[in-house]
Amino acid sequence: MEQVSQCISIRPLDEGDLPEAGAILRLAFATQFGMPPDTFWMDRDFVTGRWVTDPSLAFGAWIEDRLVGSSLGTSWGSLGVFGPISTHPDTWNRGIARLLIPPVLERLNALGARHLAFFTIAESTKHIALYQRFGFWPRFLTAIMTRPVDPNETVGESVRYSAIADADQVNWLNACRVLTTEVRDGLDLTTEICSAHTHGHGDSVFLTDGSRVEAVALCEYGPKSPAGAGSCLIRFAAAHPGSDTERPFDRLLTACETLAADQGLKQIVACVNASRPKAYRHLLALGFRAQRNGVTMHRPNEDAYNQTAAFVLDDLR
Ligand SMILES: CC(C)(COP(=O)(O)OP(=O)(O)OC[C@H]1O[C@@H](n2cnc3c(N)ncnc32)[C@H](O)[C@@H]1OP(=O)(O)O)[C@@H](O)C(=O)NCCC(=O)NCCS
Repeated sequence: MEQVSQCISIRPLDEGDLPEAGAILRLAFATQFGMPPDTFWMDRDFVTGRWVTDPSLAFGAWIEDRLVGSSLGTSWGSLGVFGPISTHPDTWNRGIARLLIPPVLERLNALGARHLAFFTIAESTKHIALYQRFGFWPRFLTAIMTRPVDPNETVGESVRYSAIADADQVNWLNACRVLTTEVRDGLDLTTEICSAHTHGHGDSVFLTDGSRVEAVALCEYGPKSPAGAGSCLIRFAAAHPGSDTERPFDRLLTACETLAADQGLKQIVACVNASRPKAYRHLLALGFRAQRNGVTMHRPNEDAYNQTAAFVLDDLR
């Protein structure tokens, strides 16, 4: 490794650092994908939404007083999601990501994570090798899939978080936590559900069966989100693990589509892991098409969710 001659410091990202961190992220991914940097991902924000959800999970790297990279994470209770991480291309392969990764992982663990996971570029030997140094292991392929929104699809009986009265929100969040705990012990999306609503970069839909939540989806959209113009990104979706979960999953996707149509969005983006073939096949049957394949890396090397949780979609970018 070529050593960085100047002194690198790693410290928490302040709100004032976010525009520069976002610009470095766009430049880094444009360079990675061979895209024109001036126009790439100008319609989305991967940094601010993560930061507002929990600033203690956002770190920057500085060479002297120049910000050169950032890494963030999201706490889903017992599941910690690492990323995004990016460093300025003119500093690549000089050890900066290696310094940016540990503080996020340590913080996720301190917040209760017992399993860490993220999505990365399957064909990059650099990426896989970098993360293996930290005990991550590549598991299944994950397809980022899209489907045009059909404005005529409708669903009955779905509830949007944004439509729930303030006094009632806590009850819905508790019911949601009961569902996600069935998917994985201690899995908790409620902080991110609240943040997306408050910050204005998304909304969540709930399907109910009597008094219980049988399916939930957190959708992100708009310029403050990572979704991209015209897209509704399903950050997380799950139907209650059980014998007949295909129908609620199908209704959940329709509820996401209805939300997208109401927001004037043109396509749904959903990430599905090949370890969940029922969900994957269901998306294919609905006409979703893969735009990019990646791989999720896990620490420890095991599935993040219970074996019975067949209908889960998660965007771990
Ligand atoms: C991925 C990224 C964050 C890495 O940042 P970085 O500062 O270059 O990473 P580091 O220098 O700390 O570590 C890279 C390591 O990979 C090694 N490496 C480089 N090319 C390699 C290859 N082809 N095969 C194996 N290892 C490779 C480097 O030598 C270095 O290891 P070393 O420290 O033992 O020498 C940066 O390239 C980036 O921002 N890419 C675009 C955005 C992106 O892809 N983000 C991550 C999405 S999951």
